Amino acid sequence: MLFRQLFDCESSTYTYLLADERTREALLIDPVREQAERDLGLLKELGLTLTYVLDTHVHADHVTGAGLLRQRTGARVVASPKGAPCVDLKVRHGDVLQLGEVKVEVLETPGHTDDSLSYRVGKRVFTGDALLVRSAGRTDFQNGDAGQLYDSITGVLFALPEDTEVYPAHDYKGHTVSSIAEEKRHNARAANRSREAFVQLMGSLGLPPPKKLKEAVPANLACGLLPPTQTPSAQP
Ligand SMILES: [Fe+2]
Repeated sequence: MLFRQLFDCESSTYTYLLADERTREALLIDPVREQAERDLGLLKELGLTLTYVLDTHVHADHVTGAGLLRQRTGARVVASPKGAPCVDLKVRHGDVLQLGEVKVEVLETPGHTDDSLSYRVGKRVFTGDALLVRSAGRTDFQNGDAGQLYDSITGVLFALPEDTEVYPAHDYKGHTVSSIAEEKRHNARAANRSREAFVQLMGSLGLPPPKKLKEAVPANLACGLLPPTQTPSAQP
């Protein structure tokens, strides 16, 4: 399998490119709209056809490239039924996407948002904002729920084999990858903490709202393509 980790400096977002080397079918996880030309250029250089675009959730800190990439390539947009209505393929826990030999298993990991999914591909898991390297996504907007996030991290993600590599949607400190074993031991928010203590911690973070919250969420509900502007009514 071909695998690339790409980065958007402005939003500190990781985008992942996975492809079957034989069939040349590819998928992107969490593309950023401003990086669409980079992603399309890389697909072209590598001789890949974009089949799927997977979003882990409706993001609040950047605008997804999903809709733009769909327009340009005909790829199908994949995400949770609880998120954006513009999605082509709404997937649930246990669903499997097949891309040549590449098998993508859907894991529901809500709590950061109610629509958060993780995608497991062999020994890698793409965790969105549910599980970050040594951290976990905030739970104070978009129907976030700290108790639910604790259950997703400890019950779903920490139940994966310990050597599973963890690839998050963001990193702000220069990390690129971790493992389930490392996060079980060293995750600053979830490791060795009770559900009650985790809920208390997440409720006391006091973080400012993300800079792009007001712009990003409505745009992402339309897969990153802003809804058509309302035609003014003919009222005098
Ligand atoms: Fe997020």
